[in-house]
Amino acid sequence: MSEELEDKNAQESAEEEKEELSMTQVSQEQIISVSNLNVSFGDLQVLKAVSLGIETKRITVIMGPSGCGKSTFIRTINRMNDQVSDFKVSGDVLFNGVDVYSKDVDPALLRLKIGMVFQKPNPFPMSIYDNVAFGPKIHKMFSSKDDLDNIVRTSLERAALWDEVSGRLKENALKLSGGQQQRLCIARALAVKPEVILMDEPASSLDPGSTSKIEELMVSLKDSYTVVLVSHDMRQAARVANRVAFLYKGQLVEVGTTAQVFENPTNKLTEEYIQGRLV
Ligand SMILES: Nc1ncnc2c1ncn2[C@@H]1O[C@H](COP(=O)(O)OP(=O)(O)O)[C@@H](O)[C@H]1O
Ligand SMILES: [Mg+2]
Repeated sequence: MSEELEDKNAQESAEEEKEELSMTQVSQEQIISVSNLNVSFGDLQVLKAVSLGIETKRITVIMGPSGCGKSTFIRTINRMNDQVSDFKVSGDVLFNGVDVYSKDVDPALLRLKIGMVFQKPNPFPMSIYDNVAFGPKIHKMFSSKDDLDNIVRTSLERAALWDEVSGRLKENALKLSGGQQQRLCIARALAVKPEVILMDEPASSLDPGSTSKIEELMVSLKDSYTVVLVSHDMRQAARVANRVAFLYKGQLVEVGTTAQVFENPTNKLTEEYIQGRLV
């Protein structure tokens, strides 16, 4: 990670601690509120009574060992599990106060507002331009060709990819490197103007250079978006998170600011996980 990023985050943590001290009564606004969430696939209960608020314009990292339910948790937020035949959900997932599982909610529209970036970059086999323009075209979110060009450009700029691709927008996206493909997928998610971006271990298949670019990008995104990041990399969590939630065997063990969870965990399991003694 760059020194700049470290400085920025250190400064922000200090500010947040101050904020926390002065806000004993008033809590930070929560864009997503999950309460008593239970999720099963057939007979296997994967999430057990999970309650967690996601704060607006912050990076919340969900960490925990493989198989503990991290991906299931974020996929439940934007209804990505709906297609799984034996998926069962109970409890509440509120997005801006609206129950995302209510009959009135269209999952496709929900996913515009709560976008997702996967572990393995998955650009569509089409040009760089068309990948980013895809969502705005399908959902008729532009008024003219100039407007669409502008959406593509600003999305690529926000995803820190514009400088590398501005001269080759018509090239097939599959020619990009893995790290570039992942930033393209982030640009594609941004093009439909989401409020929340869910990222499921977005850097785990990338080299260290690309990883630090993605981390810097995540930190810059939180000025405008809420980011929920799944990571089993504790150093990554410590570098980018404002808040950390620790999931273990489908249960939320602990949630708090990054400093609190890493330096002063309240639960023995969290402490063991952080020390690498829990797998
Ligand atoms: N579509 C599915 N059908 C059946 N079981 C699943 C499905 N998705 C995940 N699981 C199971 O749910 C548990 C949690 O998985 P997952 O959420 O992917 O964990 P993590 O992301 O923390 O590694 C695992 O036991 C996994 O096998
Ligand atoms: Mg996972």
